[in-house]
Amino acid sequence: MGISLRQVEAKQTAKRGKLSYAERHKLAIQHHKKQFARSEYDPVSFVSRTRINLFGILVQQSLVSIAGIEEVLNIFKPQVILEIGSGFGALTTYLGVWAAINNAEVYSIEINDNLVEKAKKVWGGLPINYYAMDEFSKEWLDIVTKKILVGKSCKFVFCDGADKVRELKIYESMLDKGDILGTHDWVKKEANKKICDYLTKKGFNSFKRVMWEDMNAGIMFWRKEMITNRFVRDSGWKT
Ligand SMILES: C[S@@+](CC[C@H](N)C(=O)[O-])C[C@H]1O[C@@H](n2cnc3c(N)ncnc32)[C@H](O)[C@@H]1O
Repeated sequence: MGISLRQVEAKQTAKRGKLSYAERHKLAIQHHKKQFARSEYDPVSFVSRTRINLFGILVQQSLVSIAGIEEVLNIFKPQVILEIGSGFGALTTYLGVWAAINNAEVYSIEINDNLVEKAKKVWGGLPINYYAMDEFSKEWLDIVTKKILVGKSCKFVFCDGADKVRELKIYESMLDKGDILGTHDWVKKEANKKICDYLTKKGFNSFKRVMWEDMNAGIMFWRKEMITNRFVRDSGWKT
């Protein structure tokens, strides 16, 4: 019997989970160097594709994607920011600083707890609620639906974990009119058009899609404009 892509991903995640912070950090740097080797002295590549450190911690975003997130935060001013996949915690820290200044709060989940050990040092002084858990566990989804997203007026969920399409489908069903959904590692391709069409049917409009795609920013955002399929918080979630 064949093994599904999801099973392969789960195996890889479990394997990575056994690595130390230093080993995982080294692997991430090797990956980025290989992927963005051309970019060092090319200004366009530098801003659109270079992976950088933020607060001295490897951030798995480009400068452009951070700028894009900043724009979304400042236009929509979310009260709650939920990051799926903290990674090394650099973006989490950035979001926490934004939240502290703008009276919001951040929630972030990561399965490999050792990755955030450096960033965690400053989280005590910031409105960051961190969970070392599996994002697909029932326990976590209960926390999200019963605590994190309940009764908040403007929510921003940034899907940057193990399986972005699966995450977008889970979280779209939990959002209300005016809420924002975002994802990372976005590229213009046929498969991604499908998820755009799916979200459109669920009442979401993409936000500056052409611009992010033209800039190769690696991010995408949607705003829920209509309530077409209201999520019933008491009865669980849809996947
Ligand atoms: C792309 S990285 C996140 C990058 C981070 N948001 C940033 O901007 O620097 C994805 C993270 O998702 C985590 N992850 C993978 N499977 C997960 C799961 N089932 N539950 C929670 N986190 C998971 C990985 O360990 C990895 O650190």
